[in-house]
Amino acid sequence: MKAEILAALRRNDGYVSGQELCEHFGVSRTAVWKAINQLKKEGYEIEAVPNKGYHITSSPDILSVNELESQMTTAWAGQKIYYYDEIDSTNMKASHLAEEGAVHGTLVVADRQTAGKGRRGRSWESPAQTGIFMTMLLKPEIEPNNASMLTLVTALAVTRAIREQTGLEAQIKWPNDIVVNGKKVCGILTEMSAQIDYVNHVVIGIGINVHNQTFPDEIAQTATSLDIESGVRIRRADLIAAVWTAFEDYYDCYIQTQDLSNLVKEYDSNLANRGNKVRVLDPLEPYEGVAQGITNRGELIVDTWESRRLVSSGEVSVRGIYGYV
Ligand code: BTN
Repeated sequence: MKAEILAALRRNDGYVSGQELCEHFGVSRTAVWKAINQLKKEGYEIEAVPNKGYHITSSPDILSVNELESQMTTAWAGQKIYYYDEIDSTNMKASHLAEEGAVHGTLVVADRQTAGKGRRGRSWESPAQTGIFMTMLLKPEIEPNNASMLTLVTALAVTRAIREQTGLEAQIKWPNDIVVNGKKVCGILTEMSAQIDYVNHVVIGIGINVHNQTFPDEIAQTATSLDIESGVRIRRADLIAAVWTAFEDYYDCYIQTQDLSNLVKEYDSNLANRGNKVRVLDPLEPYEGVAQGITNRGELIVDTWESRRLVSSGEVSVRGIYGYV
């Protein structure tokens, strides 16, 4: 009921009467009053004006199931939400939930991770009240070798959500880092459980630097946060909801063809390293070329001085020659 009260208060810029809330939920005035008081204790500022009703004046940047549910406008992504103040890793939790039968579209969100995982076995710094750490569980009917493209689908969704919510010119560093002004604000880690021809589940983990003001030395030169770049304090729940709204749109486009043919144009227009000189760290033989865009399967097209090469994500990493991008 608290999530629905919050959503109702936000829908009406004006006032919602206690009577309306009682009738809507079929509960007593005392029950409504109690729920409102609990919300106030959580940090929401809600005024009660005699003869007018309740009015929300500010929402804190807290994460909770109520807060998240009250913001979500999706059809299926995040219709079931698990929230934790602290957890080892939202990816690990989502995988366990998948094995226990959790449904397609289950979302796991944490305020802090004690063992956040990055790509290539690295860790992901996940301090409390600072970032977005979340994982979407999917049980898609796709071939296992089409699953890695979901990371690029997710990168598009995060890029659109950041642009909408902050006005910042977020871009994608192929395959799936989101950068703002050439520095990383978001990383995505997709993991899959599959048999040779059948996907059991896919978990897509997203880490977004939101309120960070400083970073550990190793990443200080290449990382930034949305607050640093925008100069304003972003509300994490708003951004989370925007990510999954965008994700549903892009996922529909992907699932129709099980590739990126409907999305290549948009992906390329958001590609930070397009037209840039890049170094492809191929373990057999590193090489340099100019990044041109992606193929329908999400490979990066790199023109070297002698040929056109296609780089598959996951296999190698790509660095900018003149910087991170
Ligand atoms: C990267 O190395 O760029 C990928 C980082 C992915 C981090 C996110 S935070 C939420 C989810 N849970 C994890 O343990 N990792 C991902």
